[in-house]
Amino acid sequence: MSRVSIALLSTLTLIAACGKSSSSEQGAPPPPTRDTPAATGGGGGGGDPVAKAKEIFATRCTPCHGATGKGDGAASASLQPPPRDFSDPAWQTSVDDAYIEKIIKFGGAAVGKAAAMPGNPDLTDPAVITELKNVVRGFGK
Ligand code: HEC
Repeated sequence: MSRVSIALLSTLTLIAACGKSSSSEQGAPPPPTRDTPAATGGGGGGGDPVAKAKEIFATRCTPCHGATGKGDGAASASLQPPPRDFSDPAWQTSVDDAYIEKIIKFGGAAVGKAAAMPGNPDLTDPAVITELKNVVRGFGK
């Protein structure tokens, strides 16, 4: 056997060994990058805050506030006080945008409301908070 083929052979053995050890260490599948490819819009990259806000509302807010913001989410029955109907025009005119953004970011306790309304401190992009506010406003239109 030539020197070259021995070298080749050991390289192949190494590759095979690497493949084996990494697949046995990996255990869990890699985390999914995004559940809804449509939400990323055209450009890819960071994604559009409007799409992101819609996705976040659907996943985080709907369980309590309901898909249409009426306060009838699956978890709402156990909440005290229950979340209000966002489509109520009297409520919409009684609150300003800054209040809505603040309660979304910091939670109910930060604005003197029930702590049952959780904050979302991980949403560090102010554009996403603004668009979540717009989702809430949209229910009043
Ligand atoms: C665990 C349940 C729960 C989740 C999840 C939740 N909320 Fe709430 N939210 C509440 C409750 C309960 C209130 C009412 C608090 C009160 O009236 O004292 C509330 C109040 C609010 C208010 C103020 C309404 C008012 O009466 O002035 C806004 C705006 C709001 N939520 C938006 C959101 C958004 C947007 C999300 C998702 C990012 C969200 N909430 C997630 C339970 C929840």
